[in-house]
Amino acid sequence: MSIISNSTASAIKDAASSLMSGNLVAFPTETVYGLGADATNEDAVARIYSVKGRPTGHPLIVHISSIDHLGKWAKDVPEYALKLARSFWPGPMTLILPRTYLAKDIITGGQDNVGIRVPSHFIALALLREFEAQGGLGVAAPSANRFGKVSPTSAQDVEFELGRCLFHDDKILDGGFSNIGIESTIIDCTNSNPVVLRPGAITNYMISMVIRNESELNSLGNLNKPIKAPGLLPSHYSPNARVLLNVTPQVGYGMIAYRKILTPKGVTRLASPANNEEFARHLYRALRTADFMSIKNVSIFTPQGDDIAVAINDRLMRICN
Ligand code: TXA
Ligand code: MG
Repeated sequence: MSIISNSTASAIKDAASSLMSGNLVAFPTETVYGLGADATNEDAVARIYSVKGRPTGHPLIVHISSIDHLGKWAKDVPEYALKLARSFWPGPMTLILPRTYLAKDIITGGQDNVGIRVPSHFIALALLREFEAQGGLGVAAPSANRFGKVSPTSAQDVEFELGRCLFHDDKILDGGFSNIGIESTIIDCTNSNPVVLRPGAITNYMISMVIRNESELNSLGNLNKPIKAPGLLPSHYSPNARVLLNVTPQVGYGMIAYRKILTPKGVTRLASPANNEEFARHLYRALRTADFMSIKNVSIFTPQGDDIAVAINDRLMRICN
């Protein structure tokens, strides 16, 4: 495995050819780092599952460079989904849509729908464009962490999580820290109304502004069918440390809270975000730091608001379970 720290055209070309040859390429996105494979190569996709230690049956998101390629992977796309795609792609949003024959069971977990995303990170987009120029159709990429663990927000995190399991010809593209820091908003678009399956940086308010009819938008709370996204398992995204919410930290604890909240004596401050965007950007890195420092307990004072705070609190609930 090699870590590629330059994003020259020739480095991106090599990485795309590597994907075309069936190798794995981890790459930066604006949300978190993904572990990529040619989505049409069943052996390469099977390696994603083994490298992550992820049980099969968990569907993967297919990444494409533009809405122009959507029709290859998805059909019967409702008008509201097109509106969302036009508004928020490239960006931190995944749409679940009825699949075409290209999206095999190994991608969809045997379901008749497929998750599609156009990321906005310039390295991700350059890689996807080059991959498509070489004849590729889409890159399957889950977050590049071991199953159930914290998503990586830097190339070093990916190396730490998966380095031992990657092969000689696999690569990690280094694009610095992910700007958003938590995973994309997932929206189920297989019914007449959109349903948010996983909150993210694209908020319910942003979605309703595009769809204009707020009553069309359901959230997870009033979902009356089985949830199809295993990343929504009650327990997920877990560091080694025990995470406690809104509990005064004791001596020896780690602490994550808004900047204005003071750190008690004997407590290690892991992050001091000034706002909710910074909270999201620093959360996973701070949890990793706690593990590196062998801190056993981390007290997190939860963020407030109906913006990305909703997604942060969603992840915090799962971390604590
Ligand atoms: O921000 C992100 O979405 C990152 C970057 C790399 O794009 N990817 C990511 O992938 O978080 P992953 O596999 O770690 O989480 C995707 C979630 C999983 O819970 C999966 O079950 C769900 O999306 N998912 C994917 N395809 C689906 C489908 N067809 N139907 C329902 N859920 C799906
Ligand atoms: Mg994940």
